[in-house]
Amino acid sequence: MKIGFIQFNPKFGDREGNIEKVRGLAGQTDADLLVLPELFATGYMFTSQEEANALAEEVPGGMTTEALCGIARARNTVIVAGLAEREGNHLFNSAVIVSPRGYMGTYRKIHLFSEEKLWFRPGDGGFKVFDIGSCRIGVMVCFDWIFPESMRSLALMGAHIVCHPANLVLPYCQDAMKTRCLENRVFSITANRTGREKRPGKSLFFTGKSRMVAPDSTVLFTAGRSTEEVGVVDVDPLKAENKQINDYNQIFSDRRPEFYGPLLSGG
Ligand code: ACM
Repeated sequence: MKIGFIQFNPKFGDREGNIEKVRGLAGQTDADLLVLPELFATGYMFTSQEEANALAEEVPGGMTTEALCGIARARNTVIVAGLAEREGNHLFNSAVIVSPRGYMGTYRKIHLFSEEKLWFRPGDGGFKVFDIGSCRIGVMVCFDWIFPESMRSLALMGAHIVCHPANLVLPYCQDAMKTRCLENRVFSITANRTGREKRPGKSLFFTGKSRMVAPDSTVLFTAGRSTEEVGVVDVDPLKAENKQINDYNQIFSDRRPEFYGPLLSGG
């Protein structure tokens, strides 16, 4: 199975241009599964609720999801992409999952980062795993990575590959994903963006280095810090079913959840 990501520098507010950029880059690959960055069509830094409302879309049905369905059909691939979702008066920082047969589902980011809390509501739908035929994929968005519970939940739900749209600004995630994959014995695809986004009164630099990691923590591919890039590698996703560390240890059946009460009670 060929899995990959598209790393690029989205232009704030230019949904059509960013979608066309992705259409062109997706045309360079024959991946079976492609992950795009967080908020890939809108850009990241909103300056008002009105601006965020105007750029967010219904999922499914909105222009961005429809365009992604078209790209997935044309390229015969599954796509996981971060986008701004509007449902009634509420916005969510979401990821949409589409296949050549159309819309599959939505994940709403559970752990919002920094000013995202001004515009978006925290995700209310829980973590989700999708059967895409060749394997099961789990989805989390950017800052979800810093909570080990996110990937653990997805792995316990049966994900072979964790798809991770991102707009990373802190420098820690790319290396941390080696541990996340090792402790859960799953593959990961972190699709980060690049560039500096300048908005009135503020600016952010995104760290690139999109990365794919194997269940034994091997780094399969790392993109450049500032490059526009399509990364693709060949993997056997079912290798993620082997949770055995040695003859005596299996990372799931060796868990002792009866002692993990503080994880649920918060301390
Ligand atoms: C992030 O969650 N975009 C850092």
